[in-house]
Amino acid sequence: MLNIAIDGPSGAGKSTVAKAIAKELGILYLDTGAMYRAVGLKAVRLGVSCTDEDKVKEFLPHVQIDVKYQEDGMHIYLDGEDVSTAIREHYVSKCASDISKIPAVRLKLVELQREIAANNPVVLDGRDITSYVLPHANCKFFLTASPEIRARRRTDELLARGQSADYDKILADIIDRDYNDSHRDFCPLTQTEDSILVDSGNMSADEVKEYMLRHIRKHME
Ligand code: DC
Repeated sequence: MLNIAIDGPSGAGKSTVAKAIAKELGILYLDTGAMYRAVGLKAVRLGVSCTDEDKVKEFLPHVQIDVKYQEDGMHIYLDGEDVSTAIREHYVSKCASDISKIPAVRLKLVELQREIAANNPVVLDGRDITSYVLPHANCKFFLTASPEIRARRRTDELLARGQSADYDKILADIIDRDYNDSHRDFCPLTQTEDSILVDSGNMSADEVKEYMLRHIRKHME
């Protein structure tokens, strides 16, 4: 089964490039961050702090997370409700990062990720795909860019959508999330030795896609 794994910090362009690669190869795209966001959203809705491990472990066995594929791609369901849009709210980002530190949360979601990867050719992006979820994936990439470049892109993206954006605050959030994601005890974000490092800092999304596709095709020959 063709499994392509892409890890990297927030805002490096993983989802854009992973979606484009999946489309080009005619395979699925699995956004694993969406799963952590859905569990984070559940905690918010229940009024539970995403850092309160005991409380999170109480509701966790009763949460149903499903991934479904529709014409426009992957949708994420929380207890039967499509929350694909709701999980993109800014307040869910930090909560997802906090809740993803809890090993029980990771184990539940990793099981679902591995099941999807075992049954489908898929491109997955996340933080621990190359190191923990699928260490034997066919192709492994670490996609990154400096925090300043990622913050600038995010700011421009929000402004282009007519939303307000404060570069300094966005940069501080990115640095905070990077630290959180790469310093947790269980499955932190890290570049494995066998992952191909791609710095998207001075590359367009299209260049990144083509560069990765060249590696993938070489591997598939
Ligand atoms: O990729 P994202 O920003 O949507 O992910 C949200 C949070 O989920 C991120 O801050 C860290 C966590 N995450 C993780 O720990 N492991 C993954 N494989 C994917 C995301």
